[in-house]
Amino acid sequence: MCGIVGYIGSNMAAPILINGLKKLEYRGYDSAGVAIFEDNDLKVIKSKGRLAILEEKVNKDMPKGLIGIGHTRWATHGEPNDLNSHPHISHSGKIAVVHNGIIENYIELKEFLQSEGYKFVSETDTEVVAHLIDYHYKGDIVEAVIESINEVEGSYALGVICKDCDDKFVAARKDSPLVVGLGKNENFIASDIPAILEYTRDVYILEDKEVVVLSSDNVKVFNNHGAEVKKEIFKVNWDVSAAEKSGYEHFMMKEMFEEPKVIRDTISPRIKDGSISLDNINITSEDLEKIEKIYIVACGTAYHAGVVGKYVIEKLARIPVEVDVASEFRYRDPLITNKNLVIIISQSGETLDTLFALREAKKKGARVLSIVNVVGSSISRESDDVLYTWAGPEIAVASTKAYNTQLSALYLVAMDFAMKKGHIEEGFYKKFIEDLKNIPQVIESVLANKEVIQRFASEHYNAKSIFFIGRGLDYALSMEGSLKLKEISYIHSEAYAGGELKHGTIALIEEGTLVICPMTQDNLMDKMISNIREVKARGATVLAITKESNQQVEKVADVVVTIPDVDSLIAPIAAVTPLQLFAYYMAIQKGCDVDKPRNLAKSVTVE
Ligand code: M6R
Repeated sequence: MCGIVGYIGSNMAAPILINGLKKLEYRGYDSAGVAIFEDNDLKVIKSKGRLAILEEKVNKDMPKGLIGIGHTRWATHGEPNDLNSHPHISHSGKIAVVHNGIIENYIELKEFLQSEGYKFVSETDTEVVAHLIDYHYKGDIVEAVIESINEVEGSYALGVICKDCDDKFVAARKDSPLVVGLGKNENFIASDIPAILEYTRDVYILEDKEVVVLSSDNVKVFNNHGAEVKKEIFKVNWDVSAAEKSGYEHFMMKEMFEEPKVIRDTISPRIKDGSISLDNINITSEDLEKIEKIYIVACGTAYHAGVVGKYVIEKLARIPVEVDVASEFRYRDPLITNKNLVIIISQSGETLDTLFALREAKKKGARVLSIVNVVGSSISRESDDVLYTWAGPEIAVASTKAYNTQLSALYLVAMDFAMKKGHIEEGFYKKFIEDLKNIPQVIESVLANKEVIQRFASEHYNAKSIFFIGRGLDYALSMEGSLKLKEISYIHSEAYAGGELKHGTIALIEEGTLVICPMTQDNLMDKMISNIREVKARGATVLAITKESNQQVEKVADVVVTIPDVDSLIAPIAAVTPLQLFAYYMAIQKGCDVDKPRNLAKSVTVE
């Protein structure tokens, strides 16, 4: 999704902005631009396509100014072209604006501004903001921004520079992330921390409708009524290298190789003296008795983690669980009361649909427990309880290590609830904890054998359509395997419950159709073998992913990828890795841009 960087200080702004935007490339974009305050004027340079094109333009005619804002745009209103890309300049040429999010009442505002004589040149909603600030500007840029944000509806992170201001610039946010980086004689804004991490680790995390005024040696934050707000400094504790490739060809591969470590980081601190202790989350046995149903709400990969969570919580804790796609949940008037616990899952903590689903749940009285990766993100701040997945920064658009840690967190929650509800024996609990702690080694061994999958991908990358089938937890895994393949290799694929295939989809299986079968559930092995026979009888080529001891699978599948033997209940945390590797190698064979797949964004902050 769009990225924002802003700078004020004693260095030339343009190179810092370009450098920061490079760090945000992973978010997905289709055009980019910068606006620099220079010689009492605003110099705007923008271009469609890759950042390298903008960089070349900037280098040819380097602006010398010390104040600037930059943007990478992921098109929502209007096609990606030079005109629609940000920054947008107001009618009078006085105000330049970069914006992430969507202004929902932009048509009304546009009509009003047009009636006031404002001419529009782009198809974007953002241009409205530039003109609106211009309309309210009577010599005080901060006042003009405050008046404007009180009139716009929707979501925004804004960076604003003004031709009359040689010593400051302004930013604001609502429902779209924005942080302020506090430097020495220089200050920054960014939609995401990696953009400024090279310069500072001290940040302010802005709340909704806060407005910040930055000069090189001062930062002041106001609310939308103009009252000053005291902010606490948030110290970023992760390393710059965490947001770099460190010798790997792609972030996605690096992040898969980080899976053993981040699973350990997520599990170990929560196991004390052989028992699970969920940070400061105090959901007691009495609380659990009152919970009639749990809702798990998320999007994309996080939603697929939620599907695993449903199986596991229901099986262990015996509490009914409903899993919902966040964008559907919030509009279907869900039957939520204070007798429900809502578990929100999100890597970024900023996915707008998920954030709004959280608000809907809270409005209806539910307690919200979030499983989130980004510390200080909107979702983490608005939840009653937060269980962080210590996956570190995930840069590749395709989520990998975050998924494994989301599963790890869900297993801890399920076990904790099960024990508190008295549904499991001490011996089972202890063994389960040991098995969970052993998962990183299992994944290390899967990664060490990645060549089997690489070879298979090199033989099948021309496939036009691929099916993933599985039963029980393997069905949940199939959904994730299919999503991963689609998003980075652009190969059509579908995930089906093994038993459901014969109710229609089997009609699509023909000679050579590729079918991928995760088969980690011991109690469903015979059923899956029958499903494999059904597709093989119609000409399918089958790749199965199973545990080492399941030797019978070799008799039916064409190729078998094995993972070390683990308990079926926790097998998904390890069995997803071969599926991620499969998607990766298929995409590489097809020459796709693995880390930045077309049309996609890392953090989806629009509806
Ligand atoms: O940041 P979130 O976990 O809330 O993101 C949810 C989805 O947008 C995300 O998982 C998406 O599906 C990934 N690209 C999948 O790899």
